[in-house]
Amino acid sequence: MSENSDSRVHRPLFSSRLAFVFAASASAIGLGNLWRFPALAARYGGGAFLLTYLVLVVTFGFTLMIAEIALGRSTRQSAIGAYRKLNRRFAIVGTLTMLVPIIILPYYCVIGGWILRYIGVYLAGQGAAAADGGSFFATFIASPFPVLAFTALFLLATMLVVGVGLRNGIERLNSILMPALILLAAGLGVYALTIPGALDGLAYYLVPHPEDFGLATVIAAMGQMFFSLSLAMGIMVTYGSYLSRDEDMETGVRRIELFDTVVALLAGFMIVPAVFAFGGIEAARQAGPSLMFITMPQIFGGQPVGQVVGLLFFALVLFAALTSAVSIAETIVSIVIDRFGWSRKKAVVIVLLLVLVLAAAPALGFSVLSDVTLPLGGASMSILDIMDFLSNSILMPLVALLTCLFVGYWLKPDFVFQEAETTAGIRFKAKWLFRVMIRYVAPAFLLLIFISSVLNAIGVIAL
Ligand code: ALA
Repeated sequence: MSENSDSRVHRPLFSSRLAFVFAASASAIGLGNLWRFPALAARYGGGAFLLTYLVLVVTFGFTLMIAEIALGRSTRQSAIGAYRKLNRRFAIVGTLTMLVPIIILPYYCVIGGWILRYIGVYLAGQGAAAADGGSFFATFIASPFPVLAFTALFLLATMLVVGVGLRNGIERLNSILMPALILLAAGLGVYALTIPGALDGLAYYLVPHPEDFGLATVIAAMGQMFFSLSLAMGIMVTYGSYLSRDEDMETGVRRIELFDTVVALLAGFMIVPAVFAFGGIEAARQAGPSLMFITMPQIFGGQPVGQVVGLLFFALVLFAALTSAVSIAETIVSIVIDRFGWSRKKAVVIVLLLVLVLAAAPALGFSVLSDVTLPLGGASMSILDIMDFLSNSILMPLVALLTCLFVGYWLKPDFVFQEAETTAGIRFKAKWLFRVMIRYVAPAFLLLIFISSVLNAIGVIAL
């Protein structure tokens, strides 16, 4: 046991608050920031979305993150154990929470595999091939073996870091990749603004228009906030369980929010104006694969400068995806260790095998399993989309809602304040905000989101 472990419960701890803030920010900053945020901002009216998102982060995001970290830190357990220890009847919330990273990690690794393939493309100077408007991407994802191999490679890298442990693996990886990621995002953001026509896109991105505020914008921003801040996935409960009682949770959470939001905004600076200049508003509204793997390579083009920019861009995406995947995997591994008392190595090997099997489905969902689709939300969804939908739109709002009810009404907000103020001299400042959000505002909105998501999925309403 290292000197900074919690000797009463034999649990490793982060080496400092900065290490915790870095790890939680590295978890938060991921594909959500780079491909979901810019596209959602473009689709829901640019500035209106940004403003709504910012308000949600400092109110909802703050409240839920504090609640999750307090659950983990007070029990020194990851999700299942934390809910069970505080109240056996709420153990089901822990089980539901555990399902989220188990669903997300497999498809996250598939996308991680696609990113690795594109890094290979730009390293080999074949950017022109990837800039063909979609055939390159379509052909690649329809090839079962290459996709499986790249998925396995990404998963292996992720599990290797988790296998090495909290300090030598996760902390060390973040201390290298996070500064690199911020530099790359800032550099590419500035570069994108020099593209002719980009400034019109920038105006669209930043200026709010009153007609764009509405329920659909709020729901989209709320879903994005959960995904981006790594909430309702068990991650913050696990990371909270590794946080020393001497650290100030509230300040830590404000910094994580700041980091995550700055990178999301930078991603928007990097992508929205460039895509806007390239293909107008319609191009900027595409979310997910088509934006990242089809439109961006077209913008980079086949010239030498484009090759370098393309390589840097996909390196940035890889760093963000890897550090987030590590946190998702750590959450599953931590739950397994707490539940079965296995060694980290044994837990890592078993989780690796489990995720490998599960990842085969989304990996093959565009080739041999392409017939397996579901008509959800007015679209025919692939296996990867179904997993994304199930986790983000159904399970996460449900877990967040149950967590608010548990913390707000069963444990009561004072439980969190006491946990936050365990060490003399630390004062929790935003008590009134936390109390109102966790008991009233957040549950009401979460219920609304959950019901709207279900109704949208079954085609009763169109969001
Ligand atoms: N928070 C992580 C992301 O944004 C999961 O991708």
